[in-house]
Amino acid sequence: MNAASRVHVELGDRGYDILIGSGAISEIQSQLKSMHQSGARRAFIVIDTGVPARFVDQLTKIANDAGLQVSPASITPTEHIKSIETYQRLLEQIASTGHSRVDPIIALGGGIVGDLAGFVAASYRRGVPVIQCPTTLLSMVDASVGGKTGFNLQIPNDDGSTSLLKNLVGGFWQPSLVIADIDALHSLDARQRRSGLAECIKHGFISTGVGHGHLLDWMIEHLDAIAAFDPPTIQELVQRNVSLKASVVALDEREDTSISGGRMLLNFGHTFGHAIETIAHLTPDLTDPSLAPLHHGEAVALGMLAACRAAEHASGLETSTGDELYSLLNRVGLPTRIAGLPSNEELIERMSHDKKSTADSIRVIYPIGRGRCSVVDDAKAESISAGFDAIRSE
Ligand code: GLY
Repeated sequence: MNAASRVHVELGDRGYDILIGSGAISEIQSQLKSMHQSGARRAFIVIDTGVPARFVDQLTKIANDAGLQVSPASITPTEHIKSIETYQRLLEQIASTGHSRVDPIIALGGGIVGDLAGFVAASYRRGVPVIQCPTTLLSMVDASVGGKTGFNLQIPNDDGSTSLLKNLVGGFWQPSLVIADIDALHSLDARQRRSGLAECIKHGFISTGVGHGHLLDWMIEHLDAIAAFDPPTIQELVQRNVSLKASVVALDEREDTSISGGRMLLNFGHTFGHAIETIAHLTPDLTDPSLAPLHHGEAVALGMLAACRAAEHASGLETSTGDELYSLLNRVGLPTRIAGLPSNEELIERMSHDKKSTADSIRVIYPIGRGRCSVVDDAKAESISAGFDAIRSE
């Protein structure tokens, strides 16, 4: 194993380490042994079916060697599976194992698995420890860090259709450890890799404002190695992104709306992105409808670009910010245009259902310059429409 990088999330008695490196999964052993010494006898492992079997076997062996009896539960991740029904199934499964308050849950997979397993940990017996082992780039640099957990809710509309509201139910529950084993990324396909890069680019576009001003330039300088998924470069990419995320979370653990430079900035691209992410027929490749629906990172990429163009309309932001984003997204193969979008009225309606919006106005994150964004609580419909028009392709 190469030396793992270690980033600490400074949250006092809820603080924890994030270990990043090739083979880092083996580092979970000492944590599990110490949990065993404190009375743990079982581990409930929630496994993403996309994770290679050798990781599952390795983790199971490590847990057994630490004295823990393992109960596995599998999830094939989709936004529709991130549901109250899956949450209930996991609760029933864990309860049937006799899992106690000191036994850990381990999430092995991408963000959907991490969010569901995290919320089971937050709520089962009023809270049990969770260790996050993210296996996608997206979950390594974003979802596994910071304790956001939960699931989506499908609600009926007046016309008989339903709307999928992302992450509407959940809670903050910090993990006791995060292990990002870079080797897990080898099994990702090119589309999953690109999707994770969207969250890294998002971090670049808020980086100066949160004290990590070199991140955007570092990523641009290393973009060819990043796009080629060169392992040492990817380890450094994850470490730099996790450091940014850890410092934002340490400043603002629970996305406090009174902290304008805090966690809300991490929603750059997300309010626009969530409005299009759950529209089933949208595809990232204008010529290939079979790629529908959008992956989360693809929706965030389009959402960030729409937000830049909306900010140009709203506040006269110079076009250079959106142009730089457009060029970066193109270079890594993320979408910048989308066909088949519904009307702006419908998209704005979908945005106002997003939980990142306030009750009677749409909250968005707009860039205010290179590497800087700010929160706008009452975004104007005309500016939002200008943003969607900029990514719309007929
Ligand atoms: N993914 C945004 C956050 O964790 O706050």
